[in-house]
Amino acid sequence: KRSMPLFGKKVMVTAGPTYEAIDPVRFIGNHSSGKMGFALADELVKLGAEVTLISGPTSQREGQHLQRIDVVSAQEMLNACSAIFSETDITIMCAAVADYRPKFVADQKIKKQENSLLLELEKTVDILATLGSVKNEHQILVGFALETNDEENYAKGKLEKKNLDLVVLNSLNDKGAGFKSDTNKITIFNKALERTVFETKSKADVARDICAAILKLLK
Ligand code: C5P
Repeated sequence: KRSMPLFGKKVMVTAGPTYEAIDPVRFIGNHSSGKMGFALADELVKLGAEVTLISGPTSQREGQHLQRIDVVSAQEMLNACSAIFSETDITIMCAAVADYRPKFVADQKIKKQENSLLLELEKTVDILATLGSVKNEHQILVGFALETNDEENYAKGKLEKKNLDLVVLNSLNDKGAGFKSDTNKITIFNKALERTVFETKSKADVARDICAAILKLLK
């Protein structure tokens, strides 16, 4: 019988991409599959946690014993996260949230133009940084970083700037890591900027490593 070290803990996980509407038929999105976030949610349930999974558009199916909230845009994800954050003990932000969205959403399909089309974008709210700014000392906040260059420095910068307890770095430079893959290769940094490097593993096993790092913080 497996022990349930997270029994009684409320955990929020975000997963998948966000879609930012351009008009009724088009959007700006990204290649996130949601696999990592869903694997994390499943592992957290196994450890006894009460899990809320806030997911952008994905074809992933959730396991049992968790509450799933579906959202589409970064704004909807922010609203869903903000509504429950104060009640959560642990939050893991795995979603690939859009950094920009169209400033104006056309209510009719945009017609093909004679020449080029200019789309004005505005920044979305950084959900993770928003939660980091209101987090109390009992709450654990974990962020992800996906970088293509100078990755360790960016990851450490995020940890400090967004007031995180852990940051999970996955590099697109590693084979068998990232978006659509069934495997992932991660490095975890804690607040002391200590670094733990892991081998390439299935996303289920990566989820275990991340949860083990969180359990260490609880001790
Ligand atoms: O700064 P960057 O976008 O690289 O940080 C990635 C981390 O921040 C991820 O954990 C992601 O879920 C989160 N994030 C967010 N809201 C945004 C952008 C990123 O929560 N608008």
